[in-house]
Amino acid sequence: MLDRRMFLKTSAAGLFLPALIGRASAAERGAPLPIPDVMDLRGGSTDALDAITGKTRILQGFDTSTIGYSQSYLGPVIRANRGETARLTLGNRLDENISVHWHGLHIEGAQDGGPHSMIASDAKMDAVLDIDQPEATLWYHSHIHERTAAQVWFGLAGMMIIDDPDAADNGLPNNYGVDDIPLVVQDRNFESDGNMPYTPRGVNEMLGYRGSEILVNGAIQPEASVPAGLVRLRVLNGSNARIYYFHFEDGRNFHQIASDGGLLQAPVSMNKLSLAPGERVEIVVDFSDGKAAQLLSLQDENLEMEMTSSMMPAPQAVADDGAFEVMTFSVDMAKPASITPLPAVFAGAPDPDLGEPIRRRTFKLDMSAGPNHAMGINGIPFDMSVLNETANLGETEIWEIQVSGMAHPFHVHGTSFKVLTQNGQPVDYATTGMKDVVLATGKTEILVRFDRKADADIPYMYHCHILEHEDLGMMGQFTVT
Ligand code: C2O
Ligand code: CU
Ligand code: CU
Repeated sequence: MLDRRMFLKTSAAGLFLPALIGRASAAERGAPLPIPDVMDLRGGSTDALDAITGKTRILQGFDTSTIGYSQSYLGPVIRANRGETARLTLGNRLDENISVHWHGLHIEGAQDGGPHSMIASDAKMDAVLDIDQPEATLWYHSHIHERTAAQVWFGLAGMMIIDDPDAADNGLPNNYGVDDIPLVVQDRNFESDGNMPYTPRGVNEMLGYRGSEILVNGAIQPEASVPAGLVRLRVLNGSNARIYYFHFEDGRNFHQIASDGGLLQAPVSMNKLSLAPGERVEIVVDFSDGKAAQLLSLQDENLEMEMTSSMMPAPQAVADDGAFEVMTFSVDMAKPASITPLPAVFAGAPDPDLGEPIRRRTFKLDMSAGPNHAMGINGIPFDMSVLNETANLGETEIWEIQVSGMAHPFHVHGTSFKVLTQNGQPVDYATTGMKDVVLATGKTEILVRFDRKADADIPYMYHCHILEHEDLGMMGQFTVT
């Protein structure tokens, strides 16, 4: 779907052919799924999150140079309660600026951690997060303009879980690490020395940078041991650019129970699911038959394989349709299983009445904008000193996102929205729930209201969550006053 002219232009600008990319051997596949430590900020506990460099054993026999938040790669799962103020001290022991952006948190611009909230090398910053939104699976990552993609690639990202102590028991599995399992899915490349090159150039930058190896929680195609019952998977696509099309090798059904902004009204039965960069989904899979399962994904439709496969190594296919393995699940009969049936509806699921929109804004995502042919929105590449839009507190608007060619995951800070149409087609709220990333193809419309403030000193961002596109300027900033 990539425009051929653009491809030729990209090629002329210099093709990037990767040096030796070492493919992971069978030895590193199937290691036990790492379960991230929890940084628990509930009940007024405080903690510190520091960006640090590290060495991580991802490939056997190699220590890969990585970065992370208080650990060598990625960060802990941060848990916070609705109705509380979560506090933590952010530090930076790297030799470049970082930030900690709370992706999906409904929080004022001043605490949102975007590109203006830089934490310099050796500096500290206090995060004071007033949590008031339904329970949800969110994430956090660095967000320094022109450095987000590289910093996330090397590890500055983690999951965040919002709990609501006042919500009625929703009857879902909630034994962390046992039947309630975080899965941060990413693709990475490795060189023969074990390091993870990040060298987006030419088509690898235009289409976004992808890897040939699939990591879950920092391990290559790991194996999770799960109880013989219902298991809740909180899945984050923490990849820079890859879109996943998940399904199980045996074709089994599962239920989606939540999306970016929290629970759906009711479980939705399905056997495949797409997840774009930045999106989260919660699913419940039934393992009560004791059978092992292999989680697969199709190749990314944003690539024209015949044009790009020689330049962009793809994950090794295990099926005729090009599907590759993400991870496997084995059932451990000794683990405590929750086998209560899924509730028919979720009483606490968000479905805010956003009221009538009073304004429409149009955002045309441009693969070429400005004098330097960067990327942009409405013809304008991102500029830290240019405020692109101003919104009013409490007003509901329709944002229309226009794209041509490849699909772009469009993200808005500081709120969650309803998707009205996607690729020109109406979207059923029951299947999407509240979102903060929507995969935009063709014409896409969202209904959005801003209930938190952001001033011109620290505005909110909206951008494509293909991180190379974001860093190239497919981003804008707005105030809410
Ligand atoms: Cu996930 Cu503006 O970011
Ligand atoms: Cu965000
Ligand atoms: Cu994009």
